Amino acid sequence: MNSLRLAAGAGPSGRALIELREVWKTYRMGKVEVHALRGVSLAVAEHEFLAVMGPSGSGKSTLMHLMGCLDLPTRGTILFDGADISSLKGSELAEIRGRQIGFVFQTFNLVHTLTALENVELPMIFQGAPRASRRARAVELLERVGLSDRLQHRPNELSGGEQQRVAIARALANDPKIVLCDEPTGNLDSAAGMRVLESLRDLNEEGRTVILVTHDAEAAGYARRRVQMRDGRMVEAAEEALR
Ligand SMILES: Nc1ncnc2c1ncn2[C@@H]1O[C@H](COP(=O)(O)OP(=O)(O)OP(=O)(O)O)[C@@H](O)[C@H]1O
Ligand SMILES: [Mg+2]
Repeated sequence: MNSLRLAAGAGPSGRALIELREVWKTYRMGKVEVHALRGVSLAVAEHEFLAVMGPSGSGKSTLMHLMGCLDLPTRGTILFDGADISSLKGSELAEIRGRQIGFVFQTFNLVHTLTALENVELPMIFQGAPRASRRARAVELLERVGLSDRLQHRPNELSGGEQQRVAIARALANDPKIVLCDEPTGNLDSAAGMRVLESLRDLNEEGRTVILVTHDAEAAGYARRRVQMRDGRMVEAAEEALR
């Protein structure tokens, strides 16, 4: 079962972009231990569009944090582009995260005092990009998500769908290989949600790896493969592309 699952996620080179082997994540709350992940194995190939589904509390966000180098596993191995990242230092994880991974969250997580343009520029400032080039790129990214007439708007002057599209533009700022999305349509109506999902599909079609955490079957339908979490375990894996 395990080897089948790994094979389904492996690219033409046979190597996965992200691979989890028997990964556990245990949170300690005083004397109580919460096993958020209980031995998850999963391989995500380059250029995949994968949906991670499952009920509330099943471990989806925990899984996403580990795949996004935001946190380390308690046990097990995580390979990123073939390199073991299971016990890296915080600064080393941040380095991978800053260059290779873009995030989109349910609550947009934009900086409220900054304009759309400045929000998209921010990750490029962290990476030390020169002012002129980062501004030009931010404009281009906002144009791509259909917001060229909203550059100077602050988050509270934008609709939810527009804010999420700013967040997508921001996620692309440093040209990441992987875009990780945690319930990106959770706070949107269906039309705005569909537009966000279409943007994610475009990103995937241009070669980026997209991982979408959702409990919405319709949203998951945009992905080319779906896996199911339950109680910290992956209960259903490696469904092949249907669309
Ligand atoms: N920082 C933390 N400290 C302690 N327990 C945590 C922490 N983060 C998550 N948990 C617990 O781990 C389990 C998995 O949480 P997780 O957030 O991964 O679930 P989820 O599938 O994303 O749920 P939802 O669909 O509601 O977002 C839950 O029981 C949760 O209470
Ligand atoms: Mg969650």
